[in-house]
Amino acid sequence: MAQQHGQTMRPAGLDDVQIAVANPARFDADEHLAFARSVDLDLFEAEASDLAQDDAAIQDWSPSKCIRTADGHIIPRPMALLAIEDVTRRFGGIVALADVSLAMEQGQIVGLIGPNGAGKTTLFNLVTRLYRPNDGRILFDGKDLTRTPAHRIARLGIARTFQNVVLFQHMTVLENVLVGAHARLRPFSERRGRKQAQYILDYLELGEFGRRLPGGLPFGTLKRVELARALAAKPTLLLLDEPAGGLNHEEVGDLAEVIRGLQHDLDLTILLVEHHMNLVMSVSDRVHVLNFGRKIAEGTPGEVQADPAVIEAYLGAERVAAA
Ligand SMILES: Nc1ncnc2c1ncn2[C@@H]1O[C@H](COP(=O)(O)OP(=O)(O)OP(=O)(O)O)[C@@H](O)[C@H]1O
Ligand SMILES: [Mg+2]
Repeated sequence: MAQQHGQTMRPAGLDDVQIAVANPARFDADEHLAFARSVDLDLFEAEASDLAQDDAAIQDWSPSKCIRTADGHIIPRPMALLAIEDVTRRFGGIVALADVSLAMEQGQIVGLIGPNGAGKTTLFNLVTRLYRPNDGRILFDGKDLTRTPAHRIARLGIARTFQNVVLFQHMTVLENVLVGAHARLRPFSERRGRKQAQYILDYLELGEFGRRLPGGLPFGTLKRVELARALAAKPTLLLLDEPAGGLNHEEVGDLAEVIRGLQHDLDLTILLVEHHMNLVMSVSDRVHVLNFGRKIAEGTPGEVQADPAVIEAYLGAERVAAA
């Protein structure tokens, strides 16, 4: 920045006017003017680059690539936290996922629904690298996960729960949660890990169960312990595979509160696979629908519920079940 009499030059303003009045000899009108012009020039350049960005965006205008800001500018869509791009996964002759794309932004709760066998869990298994896609890419925070080994996934900030509760039966509840902290704490400290695990158990109102073994605890409690273990890994992205499965009506209501809390309190981005429609529609910002491995719809909960293809997919599944 330009210097004036050994001081950093300030933007044209009251100070300059005061200097000009109090000590005209110290006030360099030419330098002041040059600075004021350079400020204008900077503004002009900023505007020009803004316009150039708009132009580029307009040329490449498509709702999946661009958004319109509140003040009317069209700008490139912010980078997704998770971007699944044209992913295909086959198991022998079965195509579990075919050309599926899905993007979610930081802070969103995204629902992933679809009849049994639609490919939802397979998608989780691809993101967590239990499986590798046959085709397509999965980007997390811009980084391609395709070659990331499964054990690194937690360290990157992705955690999950499983459709069927998976807990170590010979370990206490607190130790099970500690396993989650172990995945992320570098270097690992048992004392810090336990403190973190206890904090999460308390947050999920499970504090009293820390010393118990999982055997004999109610199913709803076990599901929540699994959630605690996922949270102990301090994820940015949390994948929940049917967290309401097997819960009673009241527990499902509590779960909705917990999921919203995770978004607000812990700033989590959540991908939620669920058959419980009231839950998924009440907490999700957006919903994607799979059927026979293909994505058939995407939108707000309202849009998806009104989509004829979605209604047909679910009615079709009911007809098959009834036959
Ligand atoms: N490891 C595997 N080996 C063979 N086939 C598999 C494997 N994993 C999934 N599949 C098949 O892929 C398809 C999708 O299964 P997936 O478990 O992803 O469905 P889903 O949408 O999670 O269903 P649900 O709602 O019943 O949990 C199914 O036909 C399933 O049998
Ligand atoms: Mg499943």
